[in-house]
Amino acid sequence: MAVLAAPVVAAVLLLTWAAYGEAQYVLYKDATKPVEARVTDLLARMTLAEKIGQMTQIERQVASPQVLKDYFIGSLLSGGGSVPRKQATAAEWVSMVSDFQKGSLSTRLGIPMIYGIDAVHGHNNVYGATIFPHNRIGAATALEVRATGIQYAFAPCIAVCRDPRWGRCYESYSEDHRIVQAMTELIPGLQGDVPANFTSGMPYVAGKNNVAACAKHFVGDGGTQNGVNEDNTIIDRRGLMTIHMPAYLNALQKGVSTVMISYSSWNGIKMHANHDLVTRYLKDRLNFKGFTISDWEGIDRITTPAGSNYSYSVQAGVLAGIDMIMVPNNYQSFISILTSHVNNGIIPMSRIDDAVTRILRVKFTMGLFENPMPDSSMADQLGKKEHRDLAREAVRKSLVLLKNGKTSDKPMLPLSKKAPKILVAGSHADNLGYQCGGWTIEWQGDTGRITVGMTILDAVKAAVDPSTTVVFAENPDADFVKNGGFSYAIVVVGEHPYTETKGDSLNMTIPDPGPSTVATVCGAAQCATVLISGRPVVVQPFLGAMDALVAAWLPGTEGQGVTDVLFGDYGFTGKLPRTWFKSVDQLPMNYGDAHYDPLFPLGFGLTTQPRTY
Ligand SMILES: *[C@@H]1O[C@H](CO)[C@@H](O)[C@H](O)[C@H]1NC(C)=O
Ligand SMILES: *[C@@H]1O[C@H](CO)[C@@H](O)[C@H](O)[C@H]1NC(C)=O
Ligand SMILES: *[C@@H]1O[C@H](CO)[C@@H](O)[C@H](O)[C@H]1NC(C)=O
Repeated sequence: MAVLAAPVVAAVLLLTWAAYGEAQYVLYKDATKPVEARVTDLLARMTLAEKIGQMTQIERQVASPQVLKDYFIGSLLSGGGSVPRKQATAAEWVSMVSDFQKGSLSTRLGIPMIYGIDAVHGHNNVYGATIFPHNRIGAATALEVRATGIQYAFAPCIAVCRDPRWGRCYESYSEDHRIVQAMTELIPGLQGDVPANFTSGMPYVAGKNNVAACAKHFVGDGGTQNGVNEDNTIIDRRGLMTIHMPAYLNALQKGVSTVMISYSSWNGIKMHANHDLVTRYLKDRLNFKGFTISDWEGIDRITTPAGSNYSYSVQAGVLAGIDMIMVPNNYQSFISILTSHVNNGIIPMSRIDDAVTRILRVKFTMGLFENPMPDSSMADQLGKKEHRDLAREAVRKSLVLLKNGKTSDKPMLPLSKKAPKILVAGSHADNLGYQCGGWTIEWQGDTGRITVGMTILDAVKAAVDPSTTVVFAENPDADFVKNGGFSYAIVVVGEHPYTETKGDSLNMTIPDPGPSTVATVCGAAQCATVLISGRPVVVQPFLGAMDALVAAWLPGTEGQGVTDVLFGDYGFTGKLPRTWFKSVDQLPMNYGDAHYDPLFPLGFGLTTQPRTY
């Protein structure tokens, strides 16, 4: 038996180790390499099944670690209200996401999945999250989303809502594209600020405290006829480009990682099948390099009735340039149809490679390969005090004071905290679900104490002097109000929660007994009305009876933001981001229209000074 001298042994070991290391070196796993090189390397290793898996986004309810592994699924989502358990903790979310991610990482190439959710006013599906005014707060929302292990938010909605009868108008910043353009600042909030040498169109996510954002819904979603959701936007190309498109340019400059396609049509052509706008304009002309994603069953709705020719839907949607398909349930059908379209030459491999390149680019850019697993130490970000304080500030800055006093020399606000006895009335005064609106806990929103937060009634009680008696009567009769000895009344009424098509309205009235509560209380006491609504609603018939009117929109969980300005700890500063109509027969009516005759014009808002005691 030969005995090797020690240096020889060492040399042999070194050679073996080097050869082993070389065989194992995988460029796409090397974080020091440029993103584009990693994408190219990984794409070249992928089978068709692995590529199509990346393009497939499925709902958590049909997912399992095994499904992710077997179908190489690239992305998961929670639809509105889809949670691992009612009132699930951050730790439970993290555990769910971790289990799914382990399924993805156990595949041959170990490509991490990305998990998306509608975090549109805070992390709104999650119990205990801070609920902010819609699409207003980015960085804190990103932290709360990451607290649950999720890396992708379907926000912001940069629709330019041109008709408030649309059920999604509250998700839109304004009828004025310039306001929407300015508000794309939500994107760097969610994703982090792009570096100075950034190239517009590239996706950007700064790191583990940020999430990938999604500009939606491309394009013209807020311009449909009569505000009918998912309907047809009839406008010439110049109108589309000057009203509905500009905010996409801002979003791309700010590094938005993904763009969601709109259910709506433009001049009769479904956006989900619009190659000219999705590929030739967004990708080729504007140089968008992140990925496009369909809306929920968005390709199904290319045909009427939806899903009646799914094979055609897959063909038209993918050929239009959609990269990731929010299937979200029947993924086996999607995968087999897309596979056969590629095998039959209906969809070229170059189209598949483009889609996968974009998806991988986002995943590499955001560091998902380096940090695929949730960071459980972030759990305490969910609903934390600093975020609630921020929400409260956002609420007080977003409220718009529409009327203050029956005559301008006798303002009612700010209210005194030291009145002996006050009345709080109305269906929305002590209802956290109503105060948060749609897209909260449930897709359509809900009623009652649906999450952690402070109702406006709670906030009034917390604000007033201990000597003040606060009486709450949801819908009192006139005698009760008249004989109650109240110094004044606060009436909180508004719309009930709604989301998407269920929110489409033709009459724009607030439901009963809202109007009668206002009439009764304001007829019998000095009254300040706080209106909870996603949009301007019919108020003109009641305006004369009110001493003060505050448009509070959908403030979210922090009712103290409302009382901060009602009681004058802060002044009112908010301005209307949309036109307030007199009557529905004026609609649509937008700033700049020839027949513009609003109750309150865009930009209107009374101010108050803080009150000193
Ligand atoms: C931008 O600048 C950073 C350093 O600040 C550098 O690492 C990066 O390569 C630059 N990117 C481009 C596209 O020039
Ligand atoms: C589905 O659409 C394709 C492409 O337009 C067409 O060839 C096919 O006949 C359609 N199938 C059905 C069942 O309508
Ligand atoms: C307004 O329309 C809704 C349906 O969108 C209906 O439920 C309600 O009763 C209508 N209100 C009035 C006052 O007509």
